[in-house]
Amino acid sequence: MNTITVKHDQLTADDFIMLWESVWGGAPTKEQVELALGNSLFRVTLHDGQRTVAMARMIGDMGLCCYIKDVIVHPDYQGKGLGRMLINELLSFVKAHGISGTDVFVELAAVPDKMPFYEKLGFDTNSAQRLKMMCHID
Ligand SMILES: CC(C)(COP(=O)(O)OP(=O)(O)OC[C@H]1O[C@@H](n2cnc3c(N)ncnc32)[C@H](O)[C@@H]1OP(=O)(O)O)[C@@H](O)C(=O)NCCC(=O)NCCS
Repeated sequence: MNTITVKHDQLTADDFIMLWESVWGGAPTKEQVELALGNSLFRVTLHDGQRTVAMARMIGDMGLCCYIKDVIVHPDYQGKGLGRMLINELLSFVKAHGISGTDVFVELAAVPDKMPFYEKLGFDTNSAQRLKMMCHID
């Protein structure tokens, strides 16, 4: 692995889909991803030379609440500290753009086997449960 470089707000739909497919399969369409990326607060990517190897993004209102989405390190690069780098970049963004002297609620949803990763980075759980619905667009 070469030196990893960090880029802000450079994530493309093609790289998003490539990284999604590398861990989950069944990626959303490019049109959906382009709309989602355009409406994100902040996107961070990590690069090994020309290769995009990790991504994460943040959505939210910046004043009160930010939500972490789509944290993915390509399987070839997992376990090398890149996930920690992604989360630290997102938190630095909040600290740089939130209102001085206030607290911003940073949240995310994680599957059980990823909870220890987020706990290591300072997140903890509360009693709220995530409710969900897939809203179909005709
Ligand atoms: C979860 C994920 C982002 C972690 O990224 P990573 O680069 O492998 O993690 P890091 O190397 O930065 O790990 C940071 C710390 O968390 C620990 N950690 C990482 N994943 C862990 C896991 N699943 N369970 C327990 N600890 C974990 C590491 O051991 C490391 O601990 P240390 O600092 O004490 O050595 C990555 O595995 C991934 O992309 N998985 C597939 C997609 C996914 O599930 N994303 C999360 C959606 S909620």
